[in-house]
Amino acid sequence: EKGKLWGGRFTGAVDPDMEKFNASIGYDRRMYKQDIQGSKAYAKAIHKAGLLTAEEESQIQTGLDQVLTEWESGTFTLQPSDEDIHTANERRLTELIGQAGAKLHTGRSRNDQVATDTRLWLRDVIGTELRPLMRQLITTIMDRAEAELDLLMPGFTHLQPAQPVRWSHWLMSHGWFLMADLTRLSQLCERVQQCPLGSGALAGNPFSVDRHQLAAELEFRGVTPNSMHAVSDRDYIVEFLFWASLVGTHFSRLAEDLIIFSTPTFGLVRIADAYSTGSSLMPQKRNPDGLELARGKAGRFLGNCVGLMGAIKGTPSTYNKDFQEDKELLFDSVDNMIGVLRVMTGAISTLTVDSDRCKQVLSEGMLATDVAYYLVRQNIPFREAHNLSGKVVALAESKGVPMSQLTLDDFKSVSPAFGDDVTTLWSYEASVEQYRADGGTARAAVAAQIERMRTELSAG
Ligand code: ARG
Repeated sequence: EKGKLWGGRFTGAVDPDMEKFNASIGYDRRMYKQDIQGSKAYAKAIHKAGLLTAEEESQIQTGLDQVLTEWESGTFTLQPSDEDIHTANERRLTELIGQAGAKLHTGRSRNDQVATDTRLWLRDVIGTELRPLMRQLITTIMDRAEAELDLLMPGFTHLQPAQPVRWSHWLMSHGWFLMADLTRLSQLCERVQQCPLGSGALAGNPFSVDRHQLAAELEFRGVTPNSMHAVSDRDYIVEFLFWASLVGTHFSRLAEDLIIFSTPTFGLVRIADAYSTGSSLMPQKRNPDGLELARGKAGRFLGNCVGLMGAIKGTPSTYNKDFQEDKELLFDSVDNMIGVLRVMTGAISTLTVDSDRCKQVLSEGMLATDVAYYLVRQNIPFREAHNLSGKVVALAESKGVPMSQLTLDDFKSVSPAFGDDVTTLWSYEASVEQYRADGGTARAAVAAQIERMRTELSAG
């Protein structure tokens, strides 16, 4: 097969449909830089191992720099024989520098090469894009929470009004999901940063290249421990895709809250024009499309994770072409995650909270628990207090008035433990201020969790 790196033993040509089906250059060209970086390190290593003269090594380094320049200036011309990024770069290098280029692949296989490139690429995008964007979003959430500490809103369980909470407390509850996601990202990145180069096709490297030196050169944290494992392992991608689907799930829930809060019926928040769209038919509409897409992307992230696990499942030992399926899924999840992170950050930093409406939708029913706690403070066992409070709620309902309009006699008819200080219960502010224990919705407790998140974020 002419022009093919592996053409030696072939006599027949590859079917054009097969050629197209087999090629990954259309998408793995995104890793051109990491592929060149890996090759530069490998050239250094095989020079040190005595396989290249100093002259040859230097030609390869210069040649690879030139290939990089061609990619970056958009002048790299693909040839039909360029099956993937590895063959394309090597083909071009050899065109540029001749014989020395043909020595670069000594002891190396595309199997350890692709694993190295993908790990480098993922590490880079985590460091330059994903981690900074996550941190920015978390910071946006903390800053808002800090600035709007005094705003109260209804807290919900089962989407039914439950107890009053601070708006900041709700906001931070989503922030903590993301904080844990950021920690997970750092932890999985440790596992991404193991260097498989020097594993060859499967058996290892026969020219005693210094794998630790190679790993250090590429700024990996260590070397993979088994060559057969190294070329068959895609778990670091699965882990990343799982991470993206978990983050996607968290975003879908945050988006859902905001979508509900922004409906005119709730009216607690208004999503900025910049993240809304109109209707082509109904002039009054303001649709939260940005948030809806963020919610919908959760399906794609999960699909990509399941898709790769499905592709890997049942593959026999070491490398199989099934693994080439990893990259489009990985790139898709990374690209979409970057998009979601940007839009979420933008939508959250620009939305406005309607503080009057937040107050308006607080209802006395949400203080029924406080009525029970009042009785608990009069030494009535909670179970009984809960029951008595229920009776107060029912009495108010039967009289068609809010609880605060009941007379002291009404209260006393339910329990003699009620005194005239029962009126102190009708303050939402006093209600939230009871929850002073760590993690609660009292002002000081929310301020403390914001502080804690700032500390954790600056440590990570
Ligand atoms: N394009 C291939 C991939 O992404 C590179 C490795 C090919 N190796 C092989 N033995 N055919 O997996």
